[in-house]
Amino acid sequence: MWTTGKVIAKQNWNDKLFSLRIEVDIAPYIAGQFIKLSQMQGDKRVARAYSLVNAPDAPYVEVLAVEVQDGQLSPKLHELEIGDEIEVSTKATGFMTLDEIPSGAVQGSDLWLLATGTAVGPFVSMLSTAEPWKRFERVLLVYGARFIDDLAYLEQLKAMELQYPQQFKLVTCITREPNPDGLTSRIPQGLLSGEIERYLGVEITPDDSQVMICGNPDMISEAQSLLLERGLAKNLRRAPGQITVEKYW
Ligand SMILES: Cc1cc2nc3c(=O)[nH]c(=O)nc-3n(C[C@H](O)[C@H](O)[C@H](O)COP(=O)(O)OP(=O)(O)OC[C@H]3O[C@@H](n4cnc5c(N)ncnc54)[C@H](O)[C@@H]3O)c2cc1C
Ligand SMILES: NC(=O)c1ccc[n+]([C@@H]2O[C@H](COP(=O)([O-])OP(=O)(O)OC[C@H]3O[C@@H](n4cnc5c(N)ncnc54)[C@H](OP(=O)(O)O)[C@@H]3O)[C@@H](O)[C@H]2O)c1
Repeated sequence: MWTTGKVIAKQNWNDKLFSLRIEVDIAPYIAGQFIKLSQMQGDKRVARAYSLVNAPDAPYVEVLAVEVQDGQLSPKLHELEIGDEIEVSTKATGFMTLDEIPSGAVQGSDLWLLATGTAVGPFVSMLSTAEPWKRFERVLLVYGARFIDDLAYLEQLKAMELQYPQQFKLVTCITREPNPDGLTSRIPQGLLSGEIERYLGVEITPDDSQVMICGNPDMISEAQSLLLERGLAKNLRRAPGQITVEKYW
């Protein structure tokens, strides 16, 4: 169940937000899945889920995490430095993956990825594989964060916009300061007002769109309700639909 990994790189995006690259041997996994990281604290094991940001064929795993104030594990992860050890689950799991998205006529042409905070991670992983680019005509990433310096992997995402100029568009939704390069509303408000779709020049419709939503649970509930009202349905194995979600807490 647990194996020991070693931190081989660390990136501090700001004073709370960081990525850890960990050398570890775990079972094969698919983009969008998460591992658990864990530590013994006294005689109690504390374990938490973290989505993988790396492409599944990378020779390491990488996670993007934020230090939650008074959290049990995330402040300890934040203290880790290169060379430190951390326990890693031997298997990644999770259903927010592209192979859970129905193919064929139900699939539609557009893949929408809505993320707040650290939840951009699993989308960065998916976008670093060939699958979204093969399956969808357009990929739209909506990335919400409090401040501009809470945006991680922005260079990588902007490089993807250059690599796939017809296929990929990104919009950032920064809620606590002006955002010259994007929008300033929370994601559900941006969907309700239509400004996200206007900004990207693409409309979300039941026929054309698959929508994956990840991160803050309240954002997910609110965004999902709006999409349900617009005729999209939850994607279930027994009843394929257009909305696939993963709540982080
Ligand atoms: C499927 C899944 C994937 C996840 N992937 C990631 C990931 O890639 N990166 C990551 O940082 N976290 C991720 N999380 C959250 C992570 O598992 C922990 O809950 C988080 O690190 C806090 O743990 P803690 O022990 O420090 O806090 P705890 O003492 O357990 O306190 C938890 C509280 O912290 C807040 N919280 C938890 N996670 C976050 C977050 N990411 N952003 C803002 N507030 C949060 C919530 O209020 C929550 O109730 C994921 C959770 C799930 C269920
Ligand atoms: N410097 C710091 O001290 C610092 C910096 C970053 C994070 N943190 C800590 O890290 C944790 C995570 O913070 P985070 O910013 O990554 O995640 P977050 O609180 O989930 O915020 C990410 C984005 O989601 C939005 N959001 C929040 N609730 C929403 C809702 N109900 N509907 C729609 N959108 C919603 C936020 O908008 P709003 O701005 O409108 O809430 C923000 O744009 C927190 O516990 C925080 O204490 C600390």
